[in-house]
Amino acid sequence: VEAPRLGVTFDMAFIDGDKRHYVECYEAVLPLLRQGGFLLADNTLWDGHVTDHDYDHDRGDRNDNNNCNHCRAGYGGRNADRRGVKHMSDKQIEITTAKSAGFCFGVDRAVKLVYQALDAGKQVATLGPIVHNDAVVNDLLSRGARIIEDISELHAGETLIIRAHGVPQQVYDKLAEMETDVIDATCPFVARIHRIVEEQTALGRQILIAGDPKHPEVQGIVGHCAENCTVFQTQAELKCLIDRNYGKGLAIVAQTTYNKLLWGDCIDSLPSDAPDLLVFDTICNATAARQSDADALSRQSDLMLVAGGRHSSNTVKLYDVCSRNCPTWHIENPEELHTEAAAIRACAETVWQNKG
Ligand code: F3S
Repeated sequence: VEAPRLGVTFDMAFIDGDKRHYVECYEAVLPLLRQGGFLLADNTLWDGHVTDHDYDHDRGDRNDNNNCNHCRAGYGGRNADRRGVKHMSDKQIEITTAKSAGFCFGVDRAVKLVYQALDAGKQVATLGPIVHNDAVVNDLLSRGARIIEDISELHAGETLIIRAHGVPQQVYDKLAEMETDVIDATCPFVARIHRIVEEQTALGRQILIAGDPKHPEVQGIVGHCAENCTVFQTQAELKCLIDRNYGKGLAIVAQTTYNKLLWGDCIDSLPSDAPDLLVFDTICNATAARQSDADALSRQSDLMLVAGGRHSSNTVKLYDVCSRNCPTWHIENPEELHTEAAAIRACAETVWQNKG
């Protein structure tokens, strides 16, 4: 009989309250699942009672050549690291984490920079929340960081942290005038777009930006162009812009999280005879990779757990992708895992019975 398979994916990190440091997602979620009472592949109980099966593993090598009497899994003796040993006992649940999960490189880097600044004793203000994740933001606030919406709110002596989305050039200019201590956590992939549009602007090209005009990243990109830029959201809008500016020098870039399929449609519809048209594919793969890995895992899972902020559009997208394939739970914090544990266990029980 196969164990129910629980897939896990995240768009978040959990904060280790005791050590107060940023914990890598994968290491963080396993203890949480354990606390929730789940049996993991390393033989931790999921229903709170000891079975003969576990007892065999706990007491080490006795009569059976390093194999458990019940499931025959090898474990290598009393002190061996038992992680990764698979057991097929009653009520076991097999847990797999998606290949890519957790904060993307740019957000991970930004969050770490805030923690490093706080650890160095700086008075820190972030320009907007550093990440759409209440657990992380609240932890930073509890350590004394402030969130400001405008640099005019800065206090004397404070260090300003620019988040991964980046900011317009005029913000850098004002900060330089104010002689503010700045930590620039702009994601390098976003900074690359800033460089591209600056260079193409200097060469006299009109800049077309695929993205959401209200998104801070797009507003930052616009702020690195001169007056010569337009934001578009759809293939139809791009077509109008191309028709209107036909014959002029044009350069097209995309918001890093722009939909890859839409981007493909936009590029396919460009006229092949446009004399001076440059296309820069600036979409970041992190979001798309997380979604396709979550999709693949949820197709092979009986249930899925998606951990991330309730208001994080990335997390909601992960939830949508997974819930098309199997029953899916969205949790925002460790406490919710405990609340949902009974429901997840009930679902696992049903799957297990059906498989039996
Ligand atoms: Fe993240 Fe940077 Fe990509 S912030 S989504 S790694 S562009």
